[in-house]
Amino acid sequence: MKSQRTEYLEGQGVDTARFLEGMRHVPTVVTVVTMADESGDWGITIGSFVSLSLDPPLICFNVQKSIAIHDPIVKAEHFVVHVLREDQADLSDLFARSDISKEEQFSAIEYDVSEQGPPVLKDTLTTFHCIQYNILPGGDHTILIGLVKDISNGKPGRPVVYHQRAYHGIGQYIADHY
Ligand SMILES: Cc1cc2nc3c(=O)[nH]c(=O)nc-3n(C[C@H](O)[C@H](O)[C@H](O)COP(=O)(O)O)c2cc1C
Repeated sequence: MKSQRTEYLEGQGVDTARFLEGMRHVPTVVTVVTMADESGDWGITIGSFVSLSLDPPLICFNVQKSIAIHDPIVKAEHFVVHVLREDQADLSDLFARSDISKEEQFSAIEYDVSEQGPPVLKDTLTTFHCIQYNILPGGDHTILIGLVKDISNGKPGRPVVYHQRAYHGIGQYIADHY
């Protein structure tokens, strides 16, 4: 007898359109992850960035297996996660584009080069400098886990949030947590 998991994997679960419709209700932080290899600098817009562990300090995010940066980032020892400010949605669009080369992406912006190689974008809200800790399978994505070895705070401000296929500032104050 087939397990429920196998039955759902074979097509009885929600289809992609319905899954995306559900997930559009979930606001995400907008980050750009950068790395470098012998072919040059790479960057990608990532909305799946979350904190994973406090001790050791770990973060994670997911990368589609089908896109150009996938194999290079799986092999990369170092990467840098930049949390974008609310006036930096243009950087998110730039690093989500598949119609221009990575060289064209980086020639459009200002950035510094870190000691370990990955480019560091200027004036983002905060920046997590990571060493690759582990990778795990995640369906048609790969889960990248980073050990945070340094954090640099950039320009003060507020984050941009992605929700219902559009960029927003963070919402109005509701109530104190405690
Ligand atoms: C707000 C936003 C969040 C995204 N989050 C992710 C993500 O977490 N993982 C991912 O693989 N792609 C994500 N993408 C899509 C990639 O940025 C995009 O597919 C990729 O840069 C295109 O790569 P290609 O040029 O190789 O096709 C996101 C795009 C946007 C606009």
